[in-house]
Amino acid sequence: MPAPILDRPKSPDDWSQLREICVETAAREVAPGQREAFGRLWIDPYRRWAPGWAYVARRDGRVAGYLTGCASSARFYAASLAFGPRPRLGSNLRFPAALLARLLWSYPAHLHVNVRAAYRGGTGRALVERFEADLRASGAAGLHVFCGAAPVGFYLKLGFRELGRLQAGPAPIYALGKSLR
Ligand SMILES: CC(C)(COP(=O)(O)OP(=O)(O)OC[C@H]1O[C@@H](n2cnc3c(N)ncnc32)[C@H](O)[C@@H]1OP(=O)(O)O)[C@@H](O)C(=O)NCCC(=O)NCCS
Repeated sequence: MPAPILDRPKSPDDWSQLREICVETAAREVAPGQREAFGRLWIDPYRRWAPGWAYVARRDGRVAGYLTGCASSARFYAASLAFGPRPRLGSNLRFPAALLARLLWSYPAHLHVNVRAAYRGGTGRALVERFEADLRASGAAGLHVFCGAAPVGFYLKLGFRELGRLQAGPAPIYALGKSLR
């Protein structure tokens, strides 16, 4: 597959494609009546508080995948929890406080990356590597991600390591981190 064109979300249509991909790639199927709200819940905090850390991969004239994130998770959470829109935190908050503090301190950036099924195969790596390069240039110490079991192998391939795991209902949630220094 040819390399994707990496870009920034630039238009309202780009952001609406981010919300669409977020729904399309969700771990569990999102009911039709909840799709708009689900997309807004996951995307809008990043659009408002960290648009400079959002990336899109373009193929065939459409958004094939995206990465949202930020360099300082503490600052991002403080702003979005205080002023909205509030990010989805869910089970992540059930990790031990010491681990959450370690993530914020030693792996302060975080990300979400999702790629449409038809465009997988190099697109996820390209997005994460571009994010990491920009984080390195900004002096960030490291980055973390929370995820279910399915994408763990992807993150391990990219150099992340497991820092914690908890059982949230039937499915495990992983906290993974990568140092950038
Ligand atoms: C996870 C995801 C972003 C990966 O995108 P992708 O374009 O398929 O990833 P890449 O092809 O760039 O993968 C990079 C490497 O990881 C490997 N890899 C990808 N997904 C993997 C997985 N689930 N398990 C193990 N290895 C995986 C690839 O084979 C590739 O290896 P290589 O460099 O040796 O060829 C994509 O599958 C996706 O959007 N999944 C659904 C949503 C999701 O789970 N997002 C993560 C939420 S935290």
